[in-house]
Amino acid sequence: MINEYLRVFKARGWMKRNMPFLYSWHAYVGYELDLYESFKKPITIEEVAYKKSLREDLLQRWVEVGISIKYMKALSKGRFKTVRSFMLPSSKSNPRSTGVILKEMMELHIPTLLSYPDIMKKSQKQTFDHDEHGETVAQTSSLLEQLALPTLSRMIKKQNIQSLIDVGCGHGGYLQRLAGEFPDVQMIGIELNDDVAKEAINRCKDFNNIEIKCQDGNTWTPDEKVDLVLVNNLLHYISLNDRQSLFHQLSSWLHDKGVISVITPIQNPKHGKQFSSVFNSFFTAFDNLYPVPTEKEINQLAARAGLTVKEFRPLVKEGGWYRIMMER
Ligand SMILES: C[S@@+](CC[C@H](N)C(=O)[O-])C[C@H]1O[C@@H](n2cnc3c(N)ncnc32)[C@H](O)[C@@H]1O
Repeated sequence: MINEYLRVFKARGWMKRNMPFLYSWHAYVGYELDLYESFKKPITIEEVAYKKSLREDLLQRWVEVGISIKYMKALSKGRFKTVRSFMLPSSKSNPRSTGVILKEMMELHIPTLLSYPDIMKKSQKQTFDHDEHGETVAQTSSLLEQLALPTLSRMIKKQNIQSLIDVGCGHGGYLQRLAGEFPDVQMIGIELNDDVAKEAINRCKDFNNIEIKCQDGNTWTPDEKVDLVLVNNLLHYISLNDRQSLFHQLSSWLHDKGVISVITPIQNPKHGKQFSSVFNSFFTAFDNLYPVPTEKEINQLAARAGLTVKEFRPLVKEGGWYRIMMER
């Protein structure tokens, strides 16, 4: 009898622990179909289903969940309305919507983590499709820009930086923000993925001081040395065997006293262990993504490439992200 109670008690515990999933699921569906926008003003489910050609019974269920978690509100005359708009991702049409992070979690992270039993049994990893996911990943990485920019700006001023290279620049978000503030600093963005590089070229076209090159940072070399190299959210794309040669390569791009600034999640960090461990679980499921570095590995990579680590600071404590400055 006691065992039976215990079983139910434990099962209830799992149900409760899974509750936060509801919030993400609701927001993900709302973002994908732009439903929060549809329910911005009081409206019936039938009207929204009709306008957007959606199945009414499923929309009804989605609205019911929304009411239960207080993202939505039932009004008179069978109408409903989005209420917690501040907490929710804005419309897809807004390039700064936080929905991309939900998209990445729901379409990429969670399915990959759920395939762990299969991958473990077959002992065959998946291959990360850079073409399919490159755009989403570039968008989500850019969420860190806001936090990292003030420190980068300060460093550029303090060290009188005249030229920089952003390796693995994604859509060139860092470059655009920095180019606006430092129009006299010459900037080059290196991006391996063709589509992502094209988008970067398009987004940076109004800045005379930015040049984007679709190149592999492991093999490309600049015509002239630079004062600063940015390595933002790149290291998990580089195999453990290739990381040292990449650091030698990046160090060779620098003038004497030049600086490399790395932003990366750290493995087993002082802050943000949970996030960093799940990140590594995700990366490890692919044969072409790699675990994020430990602090010890960063120190070794720097020392062997003739660089001195000058700063090692958390950037997003709960995420295990650090910002590391190394000088030649
Ligand atoms: C996670 S994104 C980060 C984008 C940007 N740095 C940021 O922090 O927002 C990493 C980018 O590095 C690019 N990349 C991966 N390996 C590369 C390499 N060897 N050379 C140049 N770019 C690379 C990927 O295509 C991807 O767009």
